[in-house]
Amino acid sequence: MTGFNTKLVYGKGLNHLNDNCTGAVNVPLYQSTTYAFKDIDGENKYDYSRSLNPTREYLENQIALLEDAKHGFAFASGSAAIHAVFTLFKPGDHIIVSKNIYGGTFRLINDYLKNLGIEFTQVDTLDLADIKSAIKPNTKAIYFETIDNPFMKVTSVKNVAALAKEFNILTIVDNTFLTPYLQQALTLGADIVIHSATKYLGGHSDVIAGLVVTNHEDIAEKLYFSQNAVGGILSPEDCMLVIRGIKTLSVRLDRHIKNAQSVLEYLKTKTDEVKHIYYPGQAGDETDQIAADELKGYGGVITFELSEDVDPKQFVNGTELIWLAVSLGSVESLIELPYYMTHAELPVEERNKVGITKNLVRLSVGLEDPEDLIADLQQAFVKASKKELVHNHK
Ligand SMILES: Cc1ncc(COP(=O)(O)O)c(C=O)c1O
Repeated sequence: MTGFNTKLVYGKGLNHLNDNCTGAVNVPLYQSTTYAFKDIDGENKYDYSRSLNPTREYLENQIALLEDAKHGFAFASGSAAIHAVFTLFKPGDHIIVSKNIYGGTFRLINDYLKNLGIEFTQVDTLDLADIKSAIKPNTKAIYFETIDNPFMKVTSVKNVAALAKEFNILTIVDNTFLTPYLQQALTLGADIVIHSATKYLGGHSDVIAGLVVTNHEDIAEKLYFSQNAVGGILSPEDCMLVIRGIKTLSVRLDRHIKNAQSVLEYLKTKTDEVKHIYYPGQAGDETDQIAADELKGYGGVITFELSEDVDPKQFVNGTELIWLAVSLGSVESLIELPYYMTHAELPVEERNKVGITKNLVRLSVGLEDPEDLIADLQQAFVKASKKELVHNHK
């Protein structure tokens, strides 16, 4: 049985495309839209690259292998992948969605899918009773992010999937924050797993990509139809970037986690500046046990709420090493204010309802030396201290 790290490096094996006649240690980049037929009656596995491209096929097989899935699909973005999954549903279908989801998914649901006649109810997926009370005769699926964004709370895939199965409802998870290295969501009971490969899987802030896996033949057929008919495919070059990123996924994530731990310990000492820290295992409630049971590690994203003594805008403007930017899961550290940036898509009432305040900071811890990250945060705290600002003004 091949181990996970070997699968990261080799996918299904270098020769699985069965055409490596040069000994190249990398999968070839098939920059071809079309493929010649031997004769008019012959059958070609590949005929046109929207339908199938060998480089994309390698990546799709690899993500399926990593997730212990039968089928994998690569899309032009995480959002395109999410859209493709929602094409499984028709007007009149009802879907239960977690109340804390990525702003772009919120926009897709509220400003597009609802107009197509698909119904949605938002619930707290940490509360099984809340999910159960939202189930209706036309409910077809429950959709959530395994670690919610930005509060980093861990929903149990196992418990939600068990409940969903009782009611014959699909469990769909966005596992972007964890990747198959830190959680095997299909094994825990999910029916469909989605990744924005733009984040940890790609890992270098140089490619926008989305991946989907499933074990259900009927769902796979529909996803393939959507991929081919709508055409939101990942380009061969972008597939190569994701393939390259995946090779180092476990090494990078181990380091992200180690660095996040150092930053977390530092933030805990900043009792005057930091009111609350959100990171799996730190909630002090039952989600800590869920995280311990279902996750192999907690990733590199930390959210924290600044106290009234710190000016949040000055703080994120003040970092010198850490970039002020959206996104996460890359080699470089990124900091942002969800209220103004990643979650600005949510109406103000919605942001207030879920607790996304102007003081909330999301930090994606990168692979730099942790001492440098801490020194950068420390000087940003000094610059943004309101006491300090008043002092300077005087
Ligand atoms: C959890 C999550 N899912 C999906 C997406 C969308 O992915 P993409 O930006 O690749 O379209 C994002 C983007 O930030 C995300 O954070």
